[in-house]
Amino acid sequence: MQGAPKLPKGVLLALGLLLTILLYLGLPSLPQPLIWTRDRDNVTILAGLTHSNSSLFYREVQPLRRPHRIEVVLLHGKAFTSHIWQQLGTLEILSRRGYRAIALDLPGFGNSFPLPAARTEAGRADLLHQVLQDLKVKNLVLVSPSLSGLYSLPFLMRTHQQLCGFVPIAPTFTENYTYKQFSAIKTPTLIVYGALDKGLAQESLHKLQYLPNHSTVKLQDAGHACYLHQPHDFHDALLTFLDKLS
Ligand SMILES: *[C@@H]1O[C@H](CO)[C@@H](O)[C@H](O)[C@H]1NC(C)=O
Ligand SMILES: *[C@@H]1O[C@H](CO)[C@@H](O)[C@H](O)[C@H]1NC(C)=O
Ligand SMILES: *[C@@H]1O[C@H](CO)[C@@H](O)[C@H](O)[C@H]1NC(C)=O
Ligand SMILES: *[C@@H]1O[C@H](CO)[C@@H](O)[C@H](O)[C@H]1NC(C)=O
Repeated sequence: MQGAPKLPKGVLLALGLLLTILLYLGLPSLPQPLIWTRDRDNVTILAGLTHSNSSLFYREVQPLRRPHRIEVVLLHGKAFTSHIWQQLGTLEILSRRGYRAIALDLPGFGNSFPLPAARTEAGRADLLHQVLQDLKVKNLVLVSPSLSGLYSLPFLMRTHQQLCGFVPIAPTFTENYTYKQFSAIKTPTLIVYGALDKGLAQESLHKLQYLPNHSTVKLQDAGHACYLHQPHDFHDALLTFLDKLS
């Protein structure tokens, strides 16, 4: 059996020295990277929202080469982080189709610290607004599963003029808004839910169906996290919706 290739002595020495320095400094309190670009061409970003609970933090690693007609911002449910959209291949699929795709960690998830401002409805809407401004998102389509309704619905109610499209996936807290509020929002909407989700999907449909320009996709043999159970059908429905918008 062959051993691992030998490293040159100099490299080993340097590594040893680095380790010593790190140990001496007390192990790394290096800030977590909050944004990774994934694609050279159609920039795809994974981002955390909050650097600490007192500040927002992100930086554009790579400037946009050209404006994108559609920019898809993906939020996540309670059991997930932004990485779910990477694992499912959603970020890659969107970017290959020429859409800028951005997945965010909500405060308190993944690389985002909890944020006191996120305790109020206005605070959550403002936070999303601020992040989109900082990431220079102009032609926003917001994908919002489950818990992320906490953020997307206040944003929808207050600033739906800034939305090119909305893709709610059995979001929480629809019950906090009235039929009247929903029927005043003309944003093109794709309602997605799993046929086996008898809870939040049904509950949110009660109100979401009042959005005047909506279409509905029911994914068969899929539960609450329906995009996870039927990724192929989910991606198909999402791309069809986006292609129609652009
Ligand atoms: C940050 O969070 C910690 C605990 O999570 C809290 O004690 C502290 O007051 C918070 N700081 C700010 C500026 O909100
Ligand atoms: C970027 O999007 C364009 C369509 O706008 C597509 O033709 C191209 O293949 C995409 N590039 C990558 C690397 O996926
Ligand atoms: C929903 O409405 C209830 C009652 O008005 C309120 O106490 C609660 O904070 C609201 N929740 C959200 C997430 O907006
Ligand atoms: C509804 O949304 C579609 C895009 O999905 C758009 O083409 C259409 O013009 C909209 N209809 C109305 C009445 O606004």
